[in-house]
Amino acid sequence: MALRLVGISGSLRRHSFNAGLLRAARDAMPEGAALAIHSIVGVPLYDADVEAEGIPAAVTVLKDAVAAADGLLLVTPEYNNGVPGVFKNAIDWMSRPSSDIARVFGGKPVAMIGASPGNFGTILSQNGWLPTLRTLGAELWTGQRLLVSGAGQAFDAEGNLIDDAVRAKLARFMAGFVASL
Ligand code: FNR
Repeated sequence: MALRLVGISGSLRRHSFNAGLLRAARDAMPEGAALAIHSIVGVPLYDADVEAEGIPAAVTVLKDAVAAADGLLLVTPEYNNGVPGVFKNAIDWMSRPSSDIARVFGGKPVAMIGASPGNFGTILSQNGWLPTLRTLGAELWTGQRLLVSGAGQAFDAEGNLIDDAVRAKLARFMAGFVASL
């Protein structure tokens, strides 16, 4: 049976490099696996008072998609050398209630990639996710690294990947992650 992966971009920007990298990852999947794109759009700011009234629908959709997936791809921007608040906020919501963490994240194979216009291609935000993934009990795949630096040249004005070298690297990355599942 085909492997089903879920991918989430951590940017809300319409022409986001990271959302474009996620679309390119979907298009670069190897035989026998498919990547479904899910979005953090519509996830409210975490508020325990809101949670007390019920988990927001956008969060439930994300949780159930990840729980059912064979693997999760996180495509992370970098803000101020750390993880973007909007992305962390979405993952924090997905960890509620905590009794669901094992169902959603426990033992979940996770791969991480990211793009930024700077020279270091999200390396610090990728590292910044490590304590969170460990806390959630996810299994980070570390077989390869994919950091897209100089994103202004690798993507067009709509955020579509136009760099064939990155595309080839992405295909190798996704094939490696899928082979590990
Ligand atoms: C940034 N950016 C950025 N880039 C980087 O490589 N290292 C960093 O520390 C930061 N810091 C940072 C802080 C804040 C508040 C913003 C808004 C941006 C630039 C960032 O990589 C750029 O805006 C990307 O385009 C964000 O990704 P998307 O939205 O294109 O996917």
